[in-house]
Amino acid sequence: MSESRVPRLRRFLVCEPRHFAVQYAINPWMNPDTRVDVDLAREQWTALIDAYRARGHSVDRLEPVPGLPDMVFAANSAVVVGGRVFGSLFHAPERRPESGHYDLWFKTAGYAVHRPGSVVEGEGDLVWTGRYLLAGTGFRTSREAHREAQEFFGHPVISLTLVDPYFYHLDTALFVLDEENVVYYPEAFSAGSREVLRRLYPDAVLATRDDALAWGLNSVSDGRHVFIAPQAEALAGRLADQGYEPVPVDLSEFHKAGGGIKCCTQEIR
Ligand code: ARG
Repeated sequence: MSESRVPRLRRFLVCEPRHFAVQYAINPWMNPDTRVDVDLAREQWTALIDAYRARGHSVDRLEPVPGLPDMVFAANSAVVVGGRVFGSLFHAPERRPESGHYDLWFKTAGYAVHRPGSVVEGEGDLVWTGRYLLAGTGFRTSREAHREAQEFFGHPVISLTLVDPYFYHLDTALFVLDEENVVYYPEAFSAGSREVLRRLYPDAVLATRDDALAWGLNSVSDGRHVFIAPQAEALAGRLADQGYEPVPVDLSEFHKAGGGIKCCTQEIR
């Protein structure tokens, strides 16, 4: 079965954690008294980039900016589908300046960037499935931004309400395995949103709270390899049973900021 899972090569945009730190608290994982081991963070992050490249994915880098400790979380700064870039407008004032730096990177790379009119945190909450966008709201991205994204892309945008503050971005509670299937933690969603996911993905892999707390839902899949937190061993085992190949990458230093593998990875489609 494993041989039947075919990886699709991706292009990722990342930002080195040179200025990474926990200096403010904008989600329940963050505590400004926490010390980050910057050398370990850089090693862990480099291992992620190496793991992507070793599987044939291409990785573009953007220069980090001093004073923007969360800029390493590239996923939050845009969502790109079909070469169209929908920029970000952060909820937290501390993160707002990140958007301009990412916009500039895209413009320099030849892309026009749509500046959103309401709060939206890129792929943190807008998750492309291959057919439509699943869109989280409740803590960060606004419903108004879901409507704006649908107008901009002309793809269906399906709003899902997040209810657990530990899973404040959609990409902490759900990830896409391939065009057919997703993995998610049902209790992170409102009852109605759970029902929507059940109808869309009757065969989804369901994760437990332990899987989610171990950052197992903040994974990146290329359709075969699943880059996943080693702490989420149980979930990785279930994915292996389904023919996926888990690639463990430990980003424990980034968990202190409420981020993981997917948060550090934006995909340019
Ligand atoms: N400290 C960052 C924040 O709270 C973490 C972002 C995590 N990114 C993500 N895609 N979930 O905004």
